Amino acid sequence: MRIGIFGAGYVGLSTAVCLAQQYDVELVDIDLKKIESIKKGKSYIFEEDLERLLNTAINSNKLKAKLLTEQFSPFDFIFITVGTPSESDGYINLRYVDSISKTLKERRNEFLLENKQTLITLRSTVIPGTTNQILASFEKEELANIAFNPEFLSQGSAVKDTIFPRRVIIGANRSCSSRALEEFYLETLEKSDVPIYKMSIESAEFTKYVANAFLATKISFANEMADIVEGVENADIDAIMEGIGSDPRISPYFLNAGIGFGGSCFPKDINALVRFSENLSAETPSILSSVLKVNENRPFRLIKLLRQEIGRLNGKKVAILGITFKPGTNDSREAPSLRIIQALWRSGVKVNVHDPVLNRIDLSSYQMFNIEQFEDVVSCLQDVDACLILTEWPEYQKLDLETITKGMRNKIIIDGRRVFAQKHIPDSIRYLTIGSSKNRSPAIFNS
Ligand code: UDX
Repeated sequence: MRIGIFGAGYVGLSTAVCLAQQYDVELVDIDLKKIESIKKGKSYIFEEDLERLLNTAINSNKLKAKLLTEQFSPFDFIFITVGTPSESDGYINLRYVDSISKTLKERRNEFLLENKQTLITLRSTVIPGTTNQILASFEKEELANIAFNPEFLSQGSAVKDTIFPRRVIIGANRSCSSRALEEFYLETLEKSDVPIYKMSIESAEFTKYVANAFLATKISFANEMADIVEGVENADIDAIMEGIGSDPRISPYFLNAGIGFGGSCFPKDINALVRFSENLSAETPSILSSVLKVNENRPFRLIKLLRQEIGRLNGKKVAILGITFKPGTNDSREAPSLRIIQALWRSGVKVNVHDPVLNRIDLSSYQMFNIEQFEDVVSCLQDVDACLILTEWPEYQKLDLETITKGMRNKIIIDGRRVFAQKHIPDSIRYLTIGSSKNRSPAIFNS
């Protein structure tokens, strides 16, 4: 079986590497640098197990990385995994999906089987209606069949999520297409009891948005509750969320309060869904707008705590622990750290930064804020007026607070991810965190 994956981004690379453990896969992109690095077995993405599996696939010749300009032979399955970025107004940009569709058609003799048996499956997140709008002509002209099959992989567990998905959603116009994709997944997935849901293409497209919108809603809900909890003496958001999470109707996941959601999916997808809905009904969806509003305000919550602790910010020095939008990844897209560092810089604060994968993070959008980078936490905290924790890296959980705070000008830690919320805090340290009244001065309650 020959599989072509078009778009060597996060989803494309993870999917290609996992499928190449079983099948002959060609991963195609227009970016020479990406293709060259994949050929050398180098993953430009920091993701557990990915580089090891990439090397296995390259060495066994099961995975070939190719530029779109090269020659191809027809594929049985084509997966389109190109990016669908946001426009500045929140609308989704479909130019890459559009362009790859045109190329597949123009060079149909190279990419598509003559007997019209190639199944072209779109995996990029797209607003409902897109797959048929861009790809339905393949079916109308009887060139190939089409399907939509959203991915649900999370950064930091991309390989695990690809090999063991929680569910498979298949959207198709023709029953032969959904059957072909279902059989492909039944053969591919090690865990055979994974639920497979077959539906219309539009429902499948929408399922991806609704899943992300619901998860983001849970996070904003937890964050709003955390703000209320802060005013209640002896109350703690983790205990409360644990208390409600045991109810299967609620579930314990995605209820961690903190500085809000970031990354390449949630902010982009919720904005796209809002714009899509406005176009449909001329009304702004109220829950989704509130989810975004709560999230946008999260970074300022931390800055407010900082101001209350150290007063005027101008001329102060602050250490930031954690740049990435979550642990286990080198991705800082839409990370709350960017807005926090920007706000600090605007207020005249000198910022030191540390992250366990600092040398693998693209820091181009941070450099303008004159950040100073540190490879070890103790040096990063030397002579600073406060320390803000912005990513809950497991490495940070193991830190000895007394040791790391020794050189601080003021031993103030403001924990945006509740890394130390359940730990003993030495008396010498002033510790504040989201969603807890513990260690807070009465002045804060009145602010
Ligand atoms: C998400 C979806 O989980 C995944 O299914 C989809 O395919 C892509 O988008 P990802 O962006 O990798 O995955 O990260 P996720 O683990 O969902 O976290 C997103 C953001 O929410 C992070 O910034 C994280 O810190 C934040 N978050 C998550 C919280 O603040 N609280 C939580 O309880 C969970």
